[in-house]
Amino acid sequence: MQDIIEELERRRAAARLGGGAKRIDAQHAKGKLTARERLELLLDPGSFEEWDMFVEHRCADFGMADQKVPGDGVVTGYGMINGRLVFVFSQDFTVFGGALSEAHAEKICKVMDQAMKVGAPVIGLNDSGGARIQEGVASLGGYAEVFQRNVMASGVIPQISLIMGPCAGGAVYSPAMTDFIFMVKDSSYMFVTGPEVVKTVTHEEVTAEQLGGATTHTTKSGVADLAFENDVEAILMLRRFFSYLPLNNRQKAPPRPSPDPADRIDRSLDTLVPDHPNKPYDIKELILKVVDDADFFELQPDHARNIVVGFARMQGEVVGIVANNPMVLAGCLDIRSSIKAARFVRFCDAFNIPVVTFVDVPGFMPGTAQEYGGIIKHGAKLLYAYAEATVPKVTVITRKAYGGAYDVMSSKHLRGDVNLAWPNAEIAVMGAKGAVEIIFREDKGDPAKLAAREAEYKARFANPFVAGARGYIDDVIQPHETRKRICRSLTMLRDKKLDNPWRKHGNIPL
Ligand code: HXC
Repeated sequence: MQDIIEELERRRAAARLGGGAKRIDAQHAKGKLTARERLELLLDPGSFEEWDMFVEHRCADFGMADQKVPGDGVVTGYGMINGRLVFVFSQDFTVFGGALSEAHAEKICKVMDQAMKVGAPVIGLNDSGGARIQEGVASLGGYAEVFQRNVMASGVIPQISLIMGPCAGGAVYSPAMTDFIFMVKDSSYMFVTGPEVVKTVTHEEVTAEQLGGATTHTTKSGVADLAFENDVEAILMLRRFFSYLPLNNRQKAPPRPSPDPADRIDRSLDTLVPDHPNKPYDIKELILKVVDDADFFELQPDHARNIVVGFARMQGEVVGIVANNPMVLAGCLDIRSSIKAARFVRFCDAFNIPVVTFVDVPGFMPGTAQEYGGIIKHGAKLLYAYAEATVPKVTVITRKAYGGAYDVMSSKHLRGDVNLAWPNAEIAVMGAKGAVEIIFREDKGDPAKLAAREAEYKARFANPFVAGARGYIDDVIQPHETRKRICRSLTMLRDKKLDNPWRKHGNIPL
């Protein structure tokens, strides 16, 4: 018996060593943690239950028969984050560069299948050179098996990807289908094809960082949600982020009681919006003053900054916040902001998280760049997302709600449950100046007349009471009582039930 126990320990030690001490040192030299160190940091101490430590690849080509590392380049299993169950896989770059073999894929699929059975999220720590080249189509098949599971799990359990090294080819498409992607600056990359291939095909000279680094994906492409300085910061923030998520689509996100009174008023909000309608103000100030403990977990803060999205709590319950940001492009809706917000609203809807929307939007962004880029279709994504959402929806119009953007931003007509407006709100087809230039074109040569028309239009429409008279706005509220009114609305909506008609699936304008 003693022999067998020693054999077990020997095998375990070999698995823990991954690709060996030299490669571990190289990983550390790059400022990266190893796959196991990352899991230790991510999971509650002592909670990790590892599976498939002894799995090996079955490839015999290219001298692979005698290059077997137990575990085959990915550490898998389950554990706890603040006492809540999570399934994990962590790719080990020290073993064939974390490349995915058939056996490696089977390990990932096993934890995903189990996560679906018990209803718990999956977190993937990705550090992989993509398909294991020596295995050929077997590794491609492995990827596709993972992709299929990503799709089946979408909207059932939260899936989060942390990109912690080079991720090329297949290694980016699985994360792309998960709900959130976090990256580490200067050590993680995501691209379909690397700089060498780019050079050959398009003759562009580009570094890996420029092509697919954390900054690129959190500013330009919007592929990733957040970028962190190093592995440790990324993992600790992921632990924090996890607290906003329910375990699955049949549960609610866990509440976190707060001493912040639900009826707290904030007089400074009465002067937040400047008198001049074109002067910007910081919508994040409003968010921080309204949510519990001024605690807001923003996503994609550097991408499509004309809309702000993220999680917060109100009266301890998790809410998704969507807010136009007048500081950037006057808060206009454009292609990127529509896509960003639509995806966020759909996540909230899939996982029972109420959506609180702050509206200050002068409309959709005009111009050829937007039209040629398909703003019609992309703007429609946000419209579609709000319209199909059945979670509680509370909307506060803080200033402008013009045109189609008024409709889109969680309006009453899209089944907004509670729609409130500040007294200075302007709910109209467009701004007064633009409106009179169109409907009183004959007065164009007469500035005095035009000014009078503009004043008339403003007096008639630049207020919340026309919409209020029709019941499109449930109430006009004082800015300082915004938190109280939202909290009450959310309490009233706590047991809201609303079902969409049966269908196989809708056809969101992709
Ligand atoms: C097998 C691989 C590998 C791979 C890396 N390695 N990628 N082994 N299959 N895909 C091995 C290396 O041979 C090396 O082994 C070790 O991992 C570390 O790699 P290095 O190149 O030394 O590291 P680094 O300089 O940091 O570069 C990392 C890298 C680069 C950027 C990932 O290795 C690379 O470009 N790899 C190939 C990427 C790729 O083209 N993958 C296939 C994508 S196609 P030793 O023994 O020396 O330590 C794909 C198809 C799926 O994924 C599509 C589905 C839609």
